[in-house]
Amino acid sequence: MILGVPREIKDKEFRVSMVPAGVKSLTDAGHRVLVEGKAGLGSGISDDEYRSAGATLVESSGEVFAQSEMVVKVKEPQPQEMERLRRGQILFTFLHLAPDRELTAGLLLSGVTGMAYETIEAPDRSLPLLTPMSEVAGRMSIQVGACYLQRTHGGQGILLGGVPGVLPAQVVIIGGGTVGTNAAKMALGLGARVTILERSPERMRYLDDIFGGRVETIMSNSYYLAESVARADLLIGAVLIAGASAPKLVRRTMVGTMKRGAVIVDVAVDQGGCVETTRPTTHSAPTFEVDGVVHYCVANMPGAVPRTSTYALTNVTLPYIFRIAQNGLRNAVRQDPALRLGVNVHEGRVVHPAVAESQGLPHHPVENLLQ
Ligand SMILES: NC(=O)c1ccc[n+]([C@@H]2O[C@H](COP(=O)([O-])OP(=O)(O)OC[C@H]3O[C@@H](n4cnc5c(N)ncnc54)[C@H](O)[C@@H]3O)[C@@H](O)[C@H]2O)c1
Repeated sequence: MILGVPREIKDKEFRVSMVPAGVKSLTDAGHRVLVEGKAGLGSGISDDEYRSAGATLVESSGEVFAQSEMVVKVKEPQPQEMERLRRGQILFTFLHLAPDRELTAGLLLSGVTGMAYETIEAPDRSLPLLTPMSEVAGRMSIQVGACYLQRTHGGQGILLGGVPGVLPAQVVIIGGGTVGTNAAKMALGLGARVTILERSPERMRYLDDIFGGRVETIMSNSYYLAESVARADLLIGAVLIAGASAPKLVRRTMVGTMKRGAVIVDVAVDQGGCVETTRPTTHSAPTFEVDGVVHYCVANMPGAVPRTSTYALTNVTLPYIFRIAQNGLRNAVRQDPALRLGVNVHEGRVVHPAVAESQGLPHHPVENLLQ
């Protein structure tokens, strides 16, 4: 198979979808890997390293898209990339289609097979390709939150861990999955008080056990949400319903009850956000204010720490890329139920049930399409 690795062009996105080790495994197995020049520079990987691993370096993203049977990316295609996608081609990347009508419409029009990292789901319901990025974003959410709580960055001027004799900050995390657990770990490490709101009793039991009672867990419902949001210095949005738009759990009126200079980091922004006042921001202009509350809603947080994120991501994507390259899309998807759930759109049809439901579009089961 001919695989293509374009340079990422989303704002301040420095990750790359394949590292030289991945290129080497694929080319050793007889595949061809086209890498756009400078694609790895943001992650500290030179063109020469790719060349030595067996890649063919090409000058432009246009060449990568034109020649590749499978384009492997990190972020969803940007407008100039959309124009280059075509029927019969596979696009393997983060897509987050549920809240994004425009992107879904563009992919349907192109006829490409859009495989989303974030909807690949193992039999135990874990999301193996989302997990490492959620670990990064969860840990980062506390770093950026601590930064924006500083008066010099528009916050109320509170140190996350406090000091002896002065109370630490109150961190409230909605959703105790991968992002939430990693955020809690960092917040506890910095000495903050931590509350996690979850809807799964089993998950709360697990959190209680692993944190040895050092975090408060509270059942997530509108009553406790309102109460917890009002006392938060730093609020982390970390809910997920796989493939679907995030539920708007924090209403506009609840934001109005927060302290002036409190900070919201809505990590779930890539699925539309779980705070009503959320709108996606970029690394260039990461924050905005509503009712004096600082909102940080960057949809590609791991892009800011590419040297960690690129390796964490490609460690888990490579086995799936390899399986598709070796067996072809149809066989790979037939053989692997987890990979099957990754197919979001195929030849102009929506294949993932949650994406179809979120957008009110007809759903075509993948089994019918990949005969
Ligand atoms: N912004 C970014 O750069 C970035 C990076 C990585 C992940 N994310 C996003 O972060 C979000 C969380 O990802 P994750 O890997 O932690 O997911 P996860 O599935 O591990 O965890 C989600 C948790 O939310 C809980 N939940 C669901 N509904 C809830 C409700 N009503 N109240 C409270 N909890 C509820 C679930 O029980 C689950 O424990 C996703 O939208 C993901 O795409 C964003």
